[in-house]
Order: sequence, then structure tokens, then C-alpha cells
Amino acid sequence: MRMLPKLFENNRNWSRKITASDPEFFARLARQQAPEYLWIGCSDSRVPANQVVGLLPGEVFVHRNVANQVLHTDFNCLTVLQYAVDVLRVKHVIVCGHYGCGGVRAALEGRPLGLIDHWLRHVQDLWHHHAPEVNALAGEARIDRMCELNVMEQVGHLGRAGVVQEAWRLGRPLHLHGWIYGLSDGLLRDLGVGCSSAAEADALQVRLSRPTH
Ligand code: CO
Repeated sequence: MRMLPKLFENNRNWSRKITASDPEFFARLARQQAPEYLWIGCSDSRVPANQVVGLLPGEVFVHRNVANQVLHTDFNCLTVLQYAVDVLRVKHVIVCGHYGCGGVRAALEGRPLGLIDHWLRHVQDLWHHHAPEVNALAGEARIDRMCELNVMEQVGHLGRAGVVQEAWRLGRPLHLHGWIYGLSDGLLRDLGVGCSSAAEADALQVRLSRPTH
């Protein structure tokens, strides 16, 4: 099956449906995109950015990787961030993790899976940092708490990123958010690590550097 006809049929139906309700939709989008949001989420197939927040094509710029990480040496993520902030001038950057994340689970189980082990090493480092709190939990609660801590940590990384610091220095409105999505209820929760200035990012950094007990 080289052509995947079902997907092309879905695509034609989707395009037809949108054009029926808004004949100019695609022509308008083809001219430019002006999304207000950058979404950095997990690659998990169950957490599609647009659907989860009810946004149309053109409304959210998206970067996804395993376990929604923002690493200072990941030029893929940093390039998306730079383009979104400097060129598209998004006003919000959202890191959205999800409970039951397979990446976080793999990091905690430590079972060798290949190349991904290196990617998840950062989640393991974070686990060791928060070991007293996380190890006091068992089963799914342990994984879910690590999913939350992982999102909070990535928002901290964003706050330190040169692109974000520069936008704040120039006085541009830019807000960082840390959210987590529940696979079992389809609902988002705000983890209370939002930052809208360098001072707030510094305060978050201090908070995150202390291991939780
Ligand atoms: Co995941």
C-alpha cells in the first residue's frame, strides 16, 4: 500500500468542508501566517496541538518532540523558537506535557531503547534532582509527577533562552506557559510556572533549582 488512499480521501473531504464554510480560508492562509502561539509539545499521537486548544490552521506554530523538551543544544527546537519569536512575533510560548508520557516513563524505567536513551537522559537528570519527592510516590503517580516537573523545567529553560531574554529586553510582550494535558479526560491544567519578564524567569529558576521534598 504505497499511496495511502484513505488519507488522501480524508484530506479532500477536510479541504472541501473548510472551503464550504469559508471559501477564502486557504487563499487567505496561503498569503501569510500570523499565529499568536508557539506550542512545544510531546510527539505523542494523542496530544495534537490544534485540536486540544480548538485552533485552526494558521493559529498555532508547533514544535513537538519526545517528552516536550527544550534543550539549549537542540538547534531544531531553538530554530523554531527563534523564528516564532523574532519573525512571527508570537505572544505566547506554551510548553505542554501530558500525563502518562511514554518518554518520561521510559526515562524512569531505564530500559534501553536505543538512540532515545540519550534524548531522555535529561529527564533522568531531572528525576535525580527531584528524587526525594518523586521516589516517595509509586506507580502512575510517580510518572505523572515527573511529567509535571518536566514541563516546569522546560519553561525554566525557555526563560533562559537568548531569544526569549532578548525579546523581553526589547520590551516585546512574550508570555511563557507550562501546561499539562490529561489523556483520560482531554483537559489542560496550568502548572503555575508562567513568566512574562526576565525577573519572573529568574524567580522561577530559583524555585526550580531547589529540589522539592
Ligand atoms: Co509524551
